[in-house]
Amino acid sequence: MDQAYVKIDSVSKVFDTFSGDRVVAIKEISFDIRPGEFISILGPSGCGKSTLLRIIAGLLKPTGGNVSVGGSPVDGPIKGIGFVFQKAVLFDWYKVLANILAPVELAGLRKRDYVDKAYELIRLVKLEGFEDKYPKELSGGMQQRVAIARALIMDPEILFMDEPFGALDALTRDQLNLELLKIWSEKRKTILFVTHNIPEAVLLGDRVVVFSERPGTIKAIIPIDLPRPRTVEVKKDKKFGELEVELYKLIAGAHESEIEESKRKGRD
Ligand SMILES: Nc1ncnc2c1ncn2[C@@H]1O[C@H](COP(=O)(O)OP(=O)(O)O)[C@@H](O)[C@H]1O
Ligand SMILES: [Mg+2]
Repeated sequence: MDQAYVKIDSVSKVFDTFSGDRVVAIKEISFDIRPGEFISILGPSGCGKSTLLRIIAGLLKPTGGNVSVGGSPVDGPIKGIGFVFQKAVLFDWYKVLANILAPVELAGLRKRDYVDKAYELIRLVKLEGFEDKYPKELSGGMQQRVAIARALIMDPEILFMDEPFGALDALTRDQLNLELLKIWSEKRKTILFVTHNIPEAVLLGDRVVVFSERPGTIKAIIPIDLPRPRTVEVKKDKKFGELEVELYKLIAGAHESEIEESKRKGRD
């Protein structure tokens, strides 16, 4: 790929645990990401998805391989990223507006320079009228909207989303998926989106990177050539169903091989 923005080259991570065990979290992961691309990362829990995200963001050092972003090698926390986790982790004692401005405050910049931006984001994530509410007054979905706005306030080039909608009910998840697509088409950030929900991975992604069971390796990279902009209508597309089945098979295949492996071990 000639237009790589993020280059992930043979990245591995082994954790040495306190009990003396070595956990191979991910093993020789390589792929490139184009600028503005939406990458879904799909895989069973514990296969190293969060580990890979933290390595790309420079929050964790790999034990093997290299990552570069925008042509520069990653060797410490990289600037210009936004992170959204499964739990919104907001400051309870800050209202919505102050929560969205928190990264500005932490960076030691002047909040008043970012207030217009914060209001623009409040509109974008559909929280108009809730600026003065405290997190505890908001639903889980609304708290996640605040977390998304907060992640965008410093205008990051890359947005890392680690199962951001995993704790929400199905309807709220669908709604936020569609809104995330609108935000992405407006802002054109490069997005790395971790999920273990197949329809979500297909609806959102330009490509779906499928992880194996731990140690996480890449099982397949599936291009999602469904038309954009995507609305809920895309789910009626025959292609959508075919892609879902293909991904189910890849993921189920991982489970089957695990069963085979445990049977084999049982025989030894
Ligand atoms: N700091 C750590 N020390 C030891 N083991 C870890 C650490 N972080 C993650 N792991 C292990 O690495 C594996 C991958 O974890 P993780 O990246 O969180 O998986 P996922 O996000 O796909 O659920 C798991 O087995 C996890 O227990
Ligand atoms: Mg994780």
